[in-house]
Amino acid sequence: MTRRLEPGRLVLATHNDGKLREIRGLIGPFGFDVLSAGELGLPEPEEHGTTFEENARTKAMAAMQATGLPALADDSGICVDALEGAPGVHTADWAETGNGRDFMMAMRTVEERLRALGATDPAERRAAFVAVLCLAWPDGHCEFFRGEAPGHLIWPPRGDLGFGYDPVFVPDGHDRTFGEMSAAEKHGWTPGDAEALSHRARAFKLFAHDCLGVT
Ligand code: IMP
Repeated sequence: MTRRLEPGRLVLATHNDGKLREIRGLIGPFGFDVLSAGELGLPEPEEHGTTFEENARTKAMAAMQATGLPALADDSGICVDALEGAPGVHTADWAETGNGRDFMMAMRTVEERLRALGATDPAERRAAFVAVLCLAWPDGHCEFFRGEAPGHLIWPPRGDLGFGYDPVFVPDGHDRTFGEMSAAEKHGWTPGDAEALSHRARAFKLFAHDCLGVT
């Protein structure tokens, strides 16, 4: 049984500016006083989970425990079929240089692995972005919402409007990458819409239905 979240203070348990921008945009119409873990100076918890759900829970619980407020976390990544679901929960790790994150390097690593397999046709380059949102309530109760956006990977990268791996991902039904779409196009959803496009907006739509009463 999900619980209704009334507008008030809500912590977004993320230090990722791209995610923060997108979730702020999605939750904007609902009148919450949104604070982010990064802006509050909360430490970034280590993620040791083997599933998006475990990692989302770790982040939401850490932010909830530090603030006493309900906290919403996003754990996400890209799963490439030909790479048996990699990088998956390690999507951010593939960009780690030891001195920050380099997503061009991470996208090139994925491309090199696909080329090593001879995967040049879009059908051999299937991938899905996955996002799991976890809402942690102050009493420790957690709820999960999963969204997936299927598509394929292209090379070279195109567009600089998004973040992370957006420039190499073309969602099904489109011919432009997420990196070539505005945030509104990438979400493909506003409250009340039947469909959403991005993994994050698909997960958010479920959250909005269950916790915010959006029909
Ligand atoms: P984590 O959830 O903090 O482990 O990191 C997820 C990583 O997946 C991010 O650092 C991004 O590189 C990537 N990612 C997740 N969602 C998106 C998206 O919407 N566009 C592009 N990259 C994404």
